Amino acid sequence: MKFAYDGGFIIYCINGRRRLFLFLKNPDGWLDIPKGHLEKGEGYNDAAIREAYEETGLVVHPEHFFSYTTSYWFVEKKSKVKKTLRIFMARVPCDSKITISDEHSGYEWLDFDDAIRKISFRDMKAALSAANEYIDRVAMMHDLNEEYRALPGISKGWALSYRFVPGEGALNARVMIVGQAPGRDEDSSARPFVGRSGELLNELIKIAGLDRHEVYITSVVQFFPPGNRAPREPEIRRCLPFLLKQVEIINPEIIVMLGSVSAGALYDKVKVLEKHGSVVEMKGRKYFITLHPAAAIRLRKHILIIKEDFKKLRTILKTA
Ligand code: URA
Repeated sequence: MKFAYDGGFIIYCINGRRRLFLFLKNPDGWLDIPKGHLEKGEGYNDAAIREAYEETGLVVHPEHFFSYTTSYWFVEKKSKVKKTLRIFMARVPCDSKITISDEHSGYEWLDFDDAIRKISFRDMKAALSAANEYIDRVAMMHDLNEEYRALPGISKGWALSYRFVPGEGALNARVMIVGQAPGRDEDSSARPFVGRSGELLNELIKIAGLDRHEVYITSVVQFFPPGNRAPREPEIRRCLPFLLKQVEIINPEIIVMLGSVSAGALYDKVKVLEKHGSVVEMKGRKYFITLHPAAAIRLRKHILIIKEDFKKLRTILKTA
């Protein structure tokens, strides 16, 4: 048995209310996305970027943390080959100049329904459906973030930073991680968990068997509280509806609540040091209680506790 690996791109554009996807025509008539083999030393995304350029002339990069992996078997020179294909997505302007290679006989921009009707392979239909649904989430999250970002301007007596720190990660994540509020590093970079707590969180995510780009990371309050104080009750109340909308958009299998502010806002005022490592359910949603990485950094024994919790999370995810 042999193994083969391909990277590819679902390239789309938005023209008014129409969302169109780019397909390449093979000489024998069927439609495909730009894709091809990983060359020596390439990762999936390198191959996808190179193939998209060679087959369409477009310079694209993976966007919005989307990736879709599929595997299938075929027979080549009498041996069975298992191919794994990883697909990314990128948006380009609808009037982009497309320069196809000799491999293809033309290209078409198709809307979702047309594309589903015209493409032949079941895997490709599934990948396109996943991408189309993901783009809906991108649009919903974009609108929500714009509304949230404007909050300081319309709120009386705003005492938090004016810089909004959006959530980050896959919008179809199985795991959503919710912290307390951005710290100084997050405030200056406008990205969640990039400081010391972020370094520990990245390590914990790996312990849970995941990569940072596979999860969605956000906080109860998404503006830095000056002096690194804890967010106040009225601030939490003001921001909570935005967190709950993020939960609706992502619809994760499990929400990891980092520390008591997160647990208190989403679930209940629990004693985190007593309940850590456990899964609780509320209104059909699963929540995992653990410490906040910043609290764990302060005490060596808490680092051990939080690492054990993320090991448990790994087992929970495997058996789910
Ligand atoms: N701590 C949090 O709770 N959230 C962040 O975004 C960063 C640090």
